Amino acid sequence: MTCKQAKALVKSRLGEKRYRHTINVKKMAVALAERWGADPEKAELAALLHDSAKELPRDELLQIFADNAIIADNAARRPAPIWHGIAAAILCQTQWGVTDPEILSAIRCHTTGKPGMSKLDKILYLADMTSVERDYPGVEPLRKLEFEDLDKAICAALEQSIQFVKDSGKPVDPESQAALDDARRQLAQRGRQTANPNLCENHQEEPVE
Ligand SMILES: [Fe+2]
Ligand SMILES: [Fe+2]
Repeated sequence: MTCKQAKALVKSRLGEKRYRHTINVKKMAVALAERWGADPEKAELAALLHDSAKELPRDELLQIFADNAIIADNAARRPAPIWHGIAAAILCQTQWGVTDPEILSAIRCHTTGKPGMSKLDKILYLADMTSVERDYPGVEPLRKLEFEDLDKAICAALEQSIQFVKDSGKPVDPESQAALDDARRQLAQRGRQTANPNLCENHQEEPVE
């Protein structure tokens, strides 16, 4: 599937507001890909398709999981807000001819992250949280950080979204916690390697050059 086809597809599947969000995520994902040396075309396609299943009714999402039980991997038992990413990746793979595993992975984990996130996974996760229309408290420092240090930014972003889920009284998906634990580990390891342990906790209080 080309980016042009993906754009037309999501335009037909999403309401105006979510389509605009999608275009904004695409712009941010391409900018981040260029900044961090990832493939901008992969970032563009992943971003265009990331919310393509977001407006499907619950029954349809569950049917997609039932019809693709092996790829879905118990998705139905995970919190409902993350279903759309998994369903989108399944539709991309089974219906829309997207075969690139990097793109499928980024779409699939765009709401939770996962342990061992690739550069593209991180880029889409962050682009979705920092697209231009986002205006939650803390978005500005994250926008700055994601262009300065991708690993610190993903750590901060995962912390922030886990906290947001906790604050809203909803269950945290274990995969999100595993993603954060892994991101923290990676950062600590990098810090040890450079003899500059610089953990991500409270990153917003750190002065940023
Ligand atoms: Fe999403
Ligand atoms: Fe999104």
